Order: sequence, then C-alpha cells, then structure tokens
Amino acid sequence: KNIVILISGGGSNMAAIVRTAEREDWERKLGVRVAAVLSNRADAGGLAFAQARGIATQVLDHKGFGSREAFDAELVRCIDAYAPALVVLAGFMRILSAGFVDHYLGRLLNIHPSLLPAFPGLHTHERALAAGCRFVGATVHQVTSELDDGPILEQAAVPVLDGDTAQALAARVLTQEHLIYPRAVRRFFK
Ligand code: GRF
Repeated sequence: KNIVILISGGGSNMAAIVRTAEREDWERKLGVRVAAVLSNRADAGGLAFAQARGIATQVLDHKGFGSREAFDAELVRCIDAYAPALVVLAGFMRILSAGFVDHYLGRLLNIHPSLLPAFPGLHTHERALAAGCRFVGATVHQVTSELDDGPILEQAAVPVLDGDTAQALAARVLTQEHLIYPRAVRRFFK
C-alpha cells in the first residue's frame, strides 16, 4: 500500500514519518511504503531528504496554473500515478479544492499546529499567546472540505512557559508533531 506525502517546506514531519516507517519496518509489517513526496515548491528542503532515501519526488509549481481547480486536477493526476492508499499533508501550504478533498475523502490526513478545534488557520502560536493559553499543541485529523476540520485522530499538548515566543512554542509543538504524525499514519493501516 502506497503513501504519498505532500510538502511545501522543510518537511520535518515527512522525514519523521519516513524514519519511523524505516525503523518499524512498515513495509514488512504493514505492507506500507512511502512511495512519493510531492511539493508545490522547488525549494522545499524536504525534497533532498526524500531523494537521499530513494523516494520518488516531484515538484508541481502552483504558479503555472490559472486556477486552484486546474492546479488541483493536475496534482490529483500526479498523486494517482502512485495509486495511494493514503495521502498525507505535511506542511503543505495550499488550500485544497472541494474536488481534491472529495477525491481522497477517508484517505487524506493533515497535521495542524494547534489543539483543534481551537485556532484553525494561520499564525496559531501567535494567536494562542495573545489569548493567554496555558497549553497549546498539535492535531492530526482527517481532511474534510472545511479548513482544519474533520475527525481528530491524534493530539499532543505542550505547556506555554513564561516568556515564550511564538517561535519557541512552534519548536516545542513541532517535536510533538514528529511523534503523533507517524503514530496516526501507523494506526490508519492497523
Ligand atoms: C508544521 O508545524 C505543521 O503543523 C504546519 O507546518 C509545519 C510544517 O513543518 N502545518 P515541516 O515542513 O513538517 O517541517
């Protein structure tokens, strides 16, 4: 069974999933492998990591397309070439059209750096600090057509410490993302 992972940037969540898959031998134990990593940005740092592991990579620049629907349709063609059992959004910074979400409904996961349903959207850590939250975190969820919505699969909480900046919070949350995203993917197949 193939997993396709979509990234836009550093790809540390993608790398955490790939490393866990290797360490736990998902190929032998679950019949699951990360077949491809796709990015909408050629400069996404995670691409080099995937290539070094022998994983197929592909860049599809959204700027070359006239509409979101046209980009998403081409993205679906690229993804479906790998016949994925699961599509994993890992820091993929594009809002996906309803057509895309419908096509992968039930086999499309996302990670969001907040304790959903609190703080959907961008700048979650700044907003959590401004709201005076004492705990923040991350959520892995099934993707539905509402932004940062859909059934919650995994969550992790971390405390907000005195003097925290948004950057400090983001780093603390990210270490937890690297634990819960591989766990959610493993559970999807178990
Ligand atoms: C993560 O914080 C993720 O929750 C958010 O974007 C960041 C991606 O980081 N959506 P990386 O590309 O996985 O390193």
